[in-house]
Amino acid sequence: MGSVAKSAPTSTRVLTTNKHLVRWVEKMAELCQPEAVHWVDGSDAENEWLCQQLVDAGTFTRLNQELWPGCYYARSSPNDVARVEDRTFICSLSKDAAGPTNNWEDPYAMRRKLKALFKGCMRGRTMYVLPFSMGPIGSPMSQIGVQLTDSAYAVVNMRIMARVGAPVFAEIDKDTKRVVPCMHSVGAPLAPGQQDVPWPQNDTKYIVHFPETREIWSYGSGYGGNALLGKKCFALRIASNIARDEGWMAEHMLILGVQSPEGEKTYVAAAFPSACGKTNFAMMIPPAGFEGWRIWTVGDDIAWIKPDANGQLRAINPEAGFFGVAPGTSAKTNPNAMATLARNTIFTNVALTPEGGVWWEGMTDEPPAECLDWRGERWTPEIGKETGKPAAHPNGRFTAPATQCPSIDLAAWNSPEGVPISAFLFGGRRASAIPLVFQSFNWSSGVYLGATMGSETTAAAGGALGKVRRDPMAMLPFSGYHMGDYFRHWIRMQRELTETPRVFHVNWFRKDQDGKFLWPGFSENMRVLKWVVDRVRGRAQGKETSIGWTPYYDDIDWDGLEMSREAFEKLQFVDRKAWRREVMDHEELFLLLHDHLPPEMIYERELLICRL
Ligand code: GTP
Ligand code: SPV
Ligand code: MN
Repeated sequence: MGSVAKSAPTSTRVLTTNKHLVRWVEKMAELCQPEAVHWVDGSDAENEWLCQQLVDAGTFTRLNQELWPGCYYARSSPNDVARVEDRTFICSLSKDAAGPTNNWEDPYAMRRKLKALFKGCMRGRTMYVLPFSMGPIGSPMSQIGVQLTDSAYAVVNMRIMARVGAPVFAEIDKDTKRVVPCMHSVGAPLAPGQQDVPWPQNDTKYIVHFPETREIWSYGSGYGGNALLGKKCFALRIASNIARDEGWMAEHMLILGVQSPEGEKTYVAAAFPSACGKTNFAMMIPPAGFEGWRIWTVGDDIAWIKPDANGQLRAINPEAGFFGVAPGTSAKTNPNAMATLARNTIFTNVALTPEGGVWWEGMTDEPPAECLDWRGERWTPEIGKETGKPAAHPNGRFTAPATQCPSIDLAAWNSPEGVPISAFLFGGRRASAIPLVFQSFNWSSGVYLGATMGSETTAAAGGALGKVRRDPMAMLPFSGYHMGDYFRHWIRMQRELTETPRVFHVNWFRKDQDGKFLWPGFSENMRVLKWVVDRVRGRAQGKETSIGWTPYYDDIDWDGLEMSREAFEKLQFVDRKAWRREVMDHEELFLLLHDHLPPEMIYERELLICRL
């Protein structure tokens, strides 16, 4: 390394015998020029040390340990509060492979750009070598990555979100699996003696994926999916590429098990767009009238799904924690989430109360008399009313270990083979037109339902709010290749299966003329889920409509909820006029994807038009 050797970073003990990994770390350290290199062993002691460093740097506030044991609080820069979809790139060799729904740049040009950005980007900081396993360590369905990052915040969050440290190095040393290299920098090098800021970041952001070489380069952000590279970048964008090549599926889906009073267990996976209720649904506690029923949580965000030797689809949750939306989470809406985040949790961009606790909109009916908002400014309910500013950022989140969830299906979550999937649910946030629930006629019409699903945009994406956009399978921001090819992959999956999962569409968000939700949602969603299970098991009737099978009023279990026949009809109403507009919208998506669109999608659309 010649002259570089003089300024070579100090390093903790190298924790791998894998020469490729060691060489790559050396090469990247040469590029980024960190002050030190730290190999992450994942131990408790190391975690405490990292958290203390974050406290010293002003990134973390230790919360009141009596109220919130093991919990920390962070505030990000206001320029770094959500995924940046317009700065996210799929740099496949051809633009065509990325498709029109992804940003693309020539991979050679992008590499040059990244090299320039990463050159010296970690000066004055430590580069952490963080090995992680997505999925149980050693499972044939798991994948391994190594994230090099100059963000201790990213390390302690990833430690909750994935299996990390020494056991993963041991896997890497076996040299049986390809390791996905993940480069991450907040892009804020420090000059000698320069004072750091609590949330270093760079206004220039790049979240870049190279699908053919299975590489991730993320620059300029320390927040969520931009920085925890095992999550969206790896487990969805890169994994969707691997899955297409290997014949499995990487999906933006929760996984849950429904247990009947007789002990029968049915697993379903559900794709709802960001901030549309996956966490809530995955942890649901059945309402009054459903005594003896239980929901078991396997995952709340990502599912890897693969046919087993018998042609049965099986799913694992590649993650180890929940990175959940805080606002709206309460003892009423999601008691299991509240129990999960009660300890050992990192809170980001929520409000800090005077007694060293956290608060967010919807957590309690009564807001605290006073607190510091997510920007660190004094906030009172009066100030909130006057300025219209919430105390917590709408995309403020908690990072909490999955094992702390009272409803966690521990055996399933840890199972290397995963759970059998009997049904897929698709659902968006739709104020009008879309009924509470309906079932597709078959697999290809189910794929059509997922492919054409729409949703009002939320704070998780950054950008404009509340506008309906097509979000196929809730994967619009996450498919790592052409959306048309992705539909084709879905269609093809059926050939591998002996038993095809049933496909449903749900919408908890339909509103009346006055803008009031027609459906109470949350735990009451159990009633819809029970109909789904009954359909899967061949126990419930369905009524054929032009869009699919819908439940009869009497097929839904109404014990414990007042819902008149008329109100239910309103919820289920198939408005032909609105649906004709809907189909026109589908056409717009299909025109965009036309040269890669599988013919099944066109046939399904024609059939739907005929039925309407
Ligand atoms: P990501 O983590 O961004 O992928 O999103 P998610 O799908 O896990 O979102 P989450 O479950 O955290 O959804 C948060 C929002 O959905 C909050 O505003 C909730 O109040 C709202 N929500 C969840 N379930 C329901 C429901 O059944 N009805 C209504 N009306 N709102 C719901
Ligand atoms: C989402 O936006 O769908 C999330 C949060 O799950 S993030 O990890 O930030 O992408
Ligand atoms: Mn998500």
